Amino acid sequence: MRMDFDGRVAIVTGAARGTGEAIARRLSRGGAHVVVTDVLEEHGTAVAEAVGGSFQRLDVTDAGAWERCVGDAVAAHGRLDALVNNAAVLHMGTLANTDPETFRRVLDVNTVGPFLGIRAAAPTMKASGGGAIVNVASTDALTGMNGLTAYCSSKWGLRGLARAAAMELGREGIRVNTVCPAGGNPAMFGPWIERMVPFMQETLDYTQRRAIPGEVPVDRIAEAVAWLASDASAPCTGVDLPVDGGAVAGTWIAGFNTL
Ligand SMILES: NC(=O)c1ccc[n+]([C@@H]2O[C@H](COP(=O)([O-])OP(=O)(O)OC[C@H]3O[C@@H](n4cnc5c(N)ncnc54)[C@H](O)[C@@H]3O)[C@@H](O)[C@H]2O)c1
Repeated sequence: MRMDFDGRVAIVTGAARGTGEAIARRLSRGGAHVVVTDVLEEHGTAVAEAVGGSFQRLDVTDAGAWERCVGDAVAAHGRLDALVNNAAVLHMGTLANTDPETFRRVLDVNTVGPFLGIRAAAPTMKASGGGAIVNVASTDALTGMNGLTAYCSSKWGLRGLARAAAMELGREGIRVNTVCPAGGNPAMFGPWIERMVPFMQETLDYTQRRAIPGEVPVDRIAEAVAWLASDASAPCTGVDLPVDGGAVAGTWIAGFNTL
C-alpha cells in the first residue's frame, strides 16, 4: 500500500501557520498539489509558495467562498481528492464568561465551517472517484475541560458531524475521519497567555500527566492527518484518532508506579 499523494489535489483550511502549515508541507512532500487556504493572506501565500501549491483566501464560515474554492481547484487541477478541515478559533472562558455571541462564533468557525466544506467538496470528490476528508478536532472533543465551554462544544460537534458524514458518504467512496491532537500552535493561546501566567506551572504540569509526557509536535499531527488522507487507511472511516501522548488514555499518578 502506497502512502503518497502523487497526482492528488488537497485543500487544507487554516494552513497559513501552525498545524495547518505542517499538514500542507506533509501532503505536499507526498506529491499532492495543496490548495493552502486561510484568512491570513500574507502568511498563506508564503506557505503556498514554500510548498509549491496555490493560495486561496477562504473564510470557512462563507458558503459561497467554499463553492468558489472547490470550483477553482477543479477548474485548475481537474479533481479533488482530500479536504483537511483544520481551521479553528479558540475561546477561553467559563460558562459565565462566554456570551452567546461568542459561543455562536466559535461554533460557526469550528463546526459550521467544516460542515460547509464537506457539503461543498463531496460532489466533486464523488466525481473524482472518491476522496478523504480529515477533520482536526482536539482531545477536547473526547473529554471535557473547564474554561473551554465554547471550544469543547464546537469540537464535540465536529466529531459528530464526521460520524454522520462518514455514514452518509461511505458508499460514494468518501471517507471522513477526525484527528484529535493534544497540542498545536501555542500562538492560538495568544490572547489569554498573560492571564494564564499565575497558573502557568499548573498548565505545564498537565502535559506531564500523560502516559507519554510532553508536547505533541505539529509535524506528528500532520503525519496522522496524512495517514488518514492516504489510501493506507482505506478501511477507516468515522474514526477519531487521538494524537495526544496518551492524554485521553488516563491520568498518570507517579506514586502508583511504586506500588
Ligand atoms: N493549539 C493547540 O494547542 C491545539 C490543540 C488541539 C487542537 N488544535 C486544533 O488544531 C487546529 C490548528 O490549530 P493551530 O494549533 O495550528 O492554531 P492556529 O491558530 O495557528 O491555526 C488556526 C488557523 O485557522 C485560521 N482561521 C481561523 N478562523 C478562520 C476562518 N474563519 N476561516 C479560515 N481560517 C481561519 C487561522 O488564521 C489560523 O491560521 C485547530 O483545529 C485547533 O482547534 C489546536
